Amino acid sequence: MRFAVVACVLALSTVTFALDNGLMRTPPMGWLAWERFRCDIDCEHDPKNCISENLFIDMADRLAEDGWRELGYVYVNIDDCWASMERDTQGRLQSDPKRFPGGIRKLARYMHDRGLKLGIYGDMGTHTCGGYPGTPLDKIEIDAQTFADWEVDMFKFDGCYSNATEQEQGYPLMSKALNATGRPIGYSCSWPAYQGGLPPKVNYTQLGEICNLWRNYGDIQDSWDSVLYIADWFFANQDVLIPAAAPGQWNDPDMLIIGNFGLSMDQSRAQMALWAIMAAPLFMSNDLRTISSGARVILQNKMAISINQDPLGIQGRRIVKEKSGIEVYWRPLSNNASALVFFSRRNDMPYRYQTSLSKLNYTTGSYKIYDVFNDKGSTLKDSTDFVVSVNPTGVVMWHVSAPAKLGQRQFYGGGKLQGPTYHHHDNAIPPSFL
Ligand code: GLA
Repeated sequence: MRFAVVACVLALSTVTFALDNGLMRTPPMGWLAWERFRCDIDCEHDPKNCISENLFIDMADRLAEDGWRELGYVYVNIDDCWASMERDTQGRLQSDPKRFPGGIRKLARYMHDRGLKLGIYGDMGTHTCGGYPGTPLDKIEIDAQTFADWEVDMFKFDGCYSNATEQEQGYPLMSKALNATGRPIGYSCSWPAYQGGLPPKVNYTQLGEICNLWRNYGDIQDSWDSVLYIADWFFANQDVLIPAAAPGQWNDPDMLIIGNFGLSMDQSRAQMALWAIMAAPLFMSNDLRTISSGARVILQNKMAISINQDPLGIQGRRIVKEKSGIEVYWRPLSNNASALVFFSRRNDMPYRYQTSLSKLNYTTGSYKIYDVFNDKGSTLKDSTDFVVSVNPTGVVMWHVSAPAKLGQRQFYGGGKLQGPTYHHHDNAIPPSFL
């Protein structure tokens, strides 16, 4: 009897901790081809930008030589349209021979030789979203083994061309199959994005056990509208999403599009700040060969990255939504520190927003403030009213280090902050920040 109980507990524990790869204790960072380069396979006319081994080699060189790798941007991830339309004679996926003449394994070696990692893309279904060969249920084991043989470090499993029942089987099966290869492979699941992203259809407890990250929602496009649309969904559903995130398991609002064509510098800082607050994976999808220095400075901001990468891995939340269009976001960090983002939805001019740390639920004390994008430090008492000037569709981001503990409980209790923070203040003129 005792043996039966022990066996049962053992069996349960292997089921519960299916994904035990120890990876991605902080949100993964790197580069991902899709948003910027899509399914451009016209190497004859567009050799620089087509999905080919040269593109990934170029990006690896930039990551290694332009200071990205040292900041944590180490994944170079292939997305759709890399495969040949036919499996090989042994039923394995293979890369397009013209565009990847060296093969994926050689590409992985190229990354590893430079302290980088290689990610690849597949699809739980008959075809990928771009129409390339998919990984239906009966191909899961062979494909996981192929990726391990190639020494791939991360795998994104998309969900086009499969139904809910197949996905329910396929995503956990792939997790097991990847584990069974013995190679640590970060596992990115698009499953929730195909199920509306919310319970009861989506089971975030299960996702945390089988995936390292997961796409909850729609694809990002190169526009501010798209960034805002995604951020709005994530913060509207923050009470469901925040508990799902932890070291090794992350919500993924999709790629950083900073450095492309759609965002102003203020909007770029806003995406960086909100993705850091959300503890989001930081996968840039841009052209690192031609990126502007302005965009690079934002993506390489050490303080923003360290906030994103905080080891506690607690996803932050929106704590204030003012009628004026100003919103405040907050994320608790290790060592009693925290991050604050003041964000403006306005379209007129910089808005002077007045508040105080105590109104933002900070406990009594004097705090060290560091302005993330202006490289300026200062100290501030909780009770002192201050003003931040927030540009239209822009942010002011602070790292706050606290001598005293934060009053976190209120935020986790009902989700919404009660009291005067929601009202306009008509105090006397406060000290101005910035
Ligand atoms: C889906 C995914 C995208 C990308 C494309 C590729 O739309 O959500 O991120 O991988 O497929 O076809």
